[in-house]
Amino acid sequence: MIIAVDGPTASGKGTVAAGLAKHFGLKRLDTGALYRAVGLAVLDAGGDPGDEAAAVAAARALDLAAIDEARIRSSVVGLAASKVAAMSAVRAVLRDTQRAFAADPVGAVMDGRDIGTVICPNAEVKLYVTAALPVRTQRRLNELHARGETISFKELQAQIAERDRRDMERTDSPLRQAQDAHELDTSELSIAAAIEAAVRIVDRRNADMS
Ligand code: C5P
Repeated sequence: MIIAVDGPTASGKGTVAAGLAKHFGLKRLDTGALYRAVGLAVLDAGGDPGDEAAAVAAARALDLAAIDEARIRSSVVGLAASKVAAMSAVRAVLRDTQRAFAADPVGAVMDGRDIGTVICPNAEVKLYVTAALPVRTQRRLNELHARGETISFKELQAQIAERDRRDMERTDSPLRQAQDAHELDTSELSIAAAIEAAVRIVDRRNADMS
């Protein structure tokens, strides 16, 4: 069973994906981490995330097991990630990485922007996780403050809106809800309630199939 979980930044898709993976005993791939790791690798090499050749080389050299979970979560790296993610050549390299992960016969939970539309269009269950922009901003602000980053609500909200725009307007694999995706708005849901709602959607689909 492949479960595709798509949605914008800080919508709760990562939390929902992790909860589903735990509940159903599946492995999970946070595909945003791949773009973030590519952005970080370019920055670490002193390069510009807008440099396509450097970004493609970093995508080819990417080792999933060596991704630095702590360092990829900064807002600077998030912005670099959204730049490299707009490059078709980078997406082509990472598409292969993601499909190889999805090929495991046991199945997987994969979260990102284009899992249900491009990477795994035949996924058994698709979720599109959303939340209102101010709610998403507050969640990301709490995360960044916990990491010791100082940024104002207003500045962060503008950054997230800019990232949404870039993700939704790019020509290759833009963020959009797949036709057969179930929408899950987490604006007013606790973490437990959001995961519970997602589990119910998957259970309903499984019951329909049996
Ligand atoms: O989900 P997260 O914020 O970690 O993703 C970082 C960036 O990677 C996003 O802004 C988006 O541009 C890009 N991304 C993507 N396709 C995916 C996952 C992430 O373009 N499947």
